[in-house]
Amino acid sequence: MENIKFENGTLYLLDQTLLPNEEKYITPKTKEDYFYAIKTLQVRGAPAIGIFAAYAMALVEGDIKELKAYLDSARPTAVNLSWATARMLDAYKQGKNLIVEAIAIHNEDKEMCKKISEYGLSLLHNGDGILTHCNAGALATSQYGTGLGPLLLGKEKGYNFKVFTDETRPLLQGARLTSYELEKAGIDVTLICDNMASLVMKQGKINAVLVGADRIAANGDTANKIGTSGAAILAKHYGIPFYVLAPYSTIDFNCKSGEDIIIEERNGDEIKSLFFEKPTALNETKCFNPAFDVTDNELITAIITEKGIIKQPLKEGLEKLYD
Ligand code: MRU
Repeated sequence: MENIKFENGTLYLLDQTLLPNEEKYITPKTKEDYFYAIKTLQVRGAPAIGIFAAYAMALVEGDIKELKAYLDSARPTAVNLSWATARMLDAYKQGKNLIVEAIAIHNEDKEMCKKISEYGLSLLHNGDGILTHCNAGALATSQYGTGLGPLLLGKEKGYNFKVFTDETRPLLQGARLTSYELEKAGIDVTLICDNMASLVMKQGKINAVLVGADRIAANGDTANKIGTSGAAILAKHYGIPFYVLAPYSTIDFNCKSGEDIIIEERNGDEIKSLFFEKPTALNETKCFNPAFDVTDNELITAIITEKGIIKQPLKEGLEKLYD
């Protein structure tokens, strides 16, 4: 199943807001369609929004600089979005064919995910219990994924993992997307509420935690889906390795630490009413709905990119990787 397909000049996007109940492709045309798709999470996951925005930059007519700024403003935390639009703007300035460039970004992501998955798999053992948060699978990238990549690749190689996925409040990417992807791949997956992670760890059911990332600061702090830092704190408490898997382009050397990372804040209705038959709180009740949180570098066992595995100390490891 491909989330983004470019066929005969048309871009097809699997609408992730409808999953797991309906598999439907939409065909965005205008810059507003592309913006809406990113903003409302019809496409989501850091690498996937970068790929999608790259196609938008190639396919939508008009002032390309304005288009870049407009698309970048849809979601501020994932660096892959502005990284991809900057690369497309550069390609435009150099007179390159923009469709070819967008396809290259898409294909490169497939190669990166495969390498990240291979490195990640080298850290796991057949039969391991894995905890994952949000969705960092093929739906969030191009294929395999980052956080889920070792599991999907491992399945192909005959590994059997027992995966626990946090439902990931409030937008339920774990429930709606990760359990859907893993079920389809034939991987043993059990859905838990986010606040059950401590118990399954204490019960000895988890050997490693695997997550994706939206922005990695130069010191190794990482911005991940809201709730990830809680899983990292628990993992440290129980002595379980905590791995962050992401493409090299997720590292933002302009951010010294997590404090420099802008955290997207979303509408409180996502907490109160989006997935409920009736609202769970009064209309006037205030909500705070940050979409990401920062996992402090000392909680992370290793960061895995397509360039290899960076173990502690992360800051020094990232510095060596800088090119
Ligand atoms: O808000 P989302 O669903 O776009 O958040 C996605 C995540 O946090 C992913 O885990 C992250 O982007 C890594 S995707 C490989």
